[in-house]
Amino acid sequence: MAYASLENITGIAAGRWREQARDERTAQLMSSLVRHLHDFARENELTMEEWFEATEWLSRTGQISDDRRKEFILLSDVLGLSMRLELLHDSKPGEATQNTLLGPFYIPGSPQIAFGERLPGIADDDGIPLILMGTVRGLDGEPIAGAVLDIWQNDHTGLYEAQMPEGSPPHCRAIQHSREDGSYMFRTVMPVDYSIPTDGPVGELIARTTISEVRPAHIHFRIEVDGHPPLVTHIFDRRSTRLESDPVFGARDGLLVYFAEQPAGTAPNGDTIERPYRVGVLDLTLV
Ligand code: BEZ
Ligand code: FE
Repeated sequence: MAYASLENITGIAAGRWREQARDERTAQLMSSLVRHLHDFARENELTMEEWFEATEWLSRTGQISDDRRKEFILLSDVLGLSMRLELLHDSKPGEATQNTLLGPFYIPGSPQIAFGERLPGIADDDGIPLILMGTVRGLDGEPIAGAVLDIWQNDHTGLYEAQMPEGSPPHCRAIQHSREDGSYMFRTVMPVDYSIPTDGPVGELIARTTISEVRPAHIHFRIEVDGHPPLVTHIFDRRSTRLESDPVFGARDGLLVYFAEQPAGTAPNGDTIERPYRVGVLDLTLV
């Protein structure tokens, strides 16, 4: 083997990773990564100072991360990579509900709620009450009973439970099972447009640009039931003005829902709501 020179270093490094990896996939991914990184350095005439700054930045990205704070997911999201992968693996036929990214705020093990119940942590006078309902179906149009709907969202102040102090009680997240006729319904509060976390290294990077850090208001779903691939998606408030500038590219045309205003009165879930509220209807079609 020749010693490294400017001319041969990329080939030597990529070759080493390709030939000495213990499995085929590691060989492919690592040799490709080496080639792309070297091309990046060459095309941009990367300086030592810039690379050192980048390694310091990556260190801080790791240091701020833990079980609840997922700064590398946020990085992948703002680079468009998370959504690129969602779209790459989206082989859904036209009628199926579109998928979108998971985001960094999912907490597993949410409490179960019954049909029509409220997500935990929402008080009567919080924000604008919202009733959300629909039917879970297969591509054949048949309702799906017993689908597990894992739901999470921000509250009327823009806060996700994952951003609250550790040990906080469940907040704006729950699991509901679809009924025999595939239906689901729950009461919540209108989600709001809100800023992705900007107090970390990803925020530092965004602050060097005019990129918007505000995501359009949405509610997350993860739906799982035997016989169908899981669906991870959001539904978006069609009236949000932030849909096209979503900093993580998550909005999709099939996921926009109009939350219709309703006067005070008896809501579809049987609650008496003494001020105007909204109702959204979205059928969820699984592959
Ligand atoms: C969210 O869905 O809330 C989210 C997604 C990606 C990055 C930050 C937040
Ligand atoms: Fe979200």
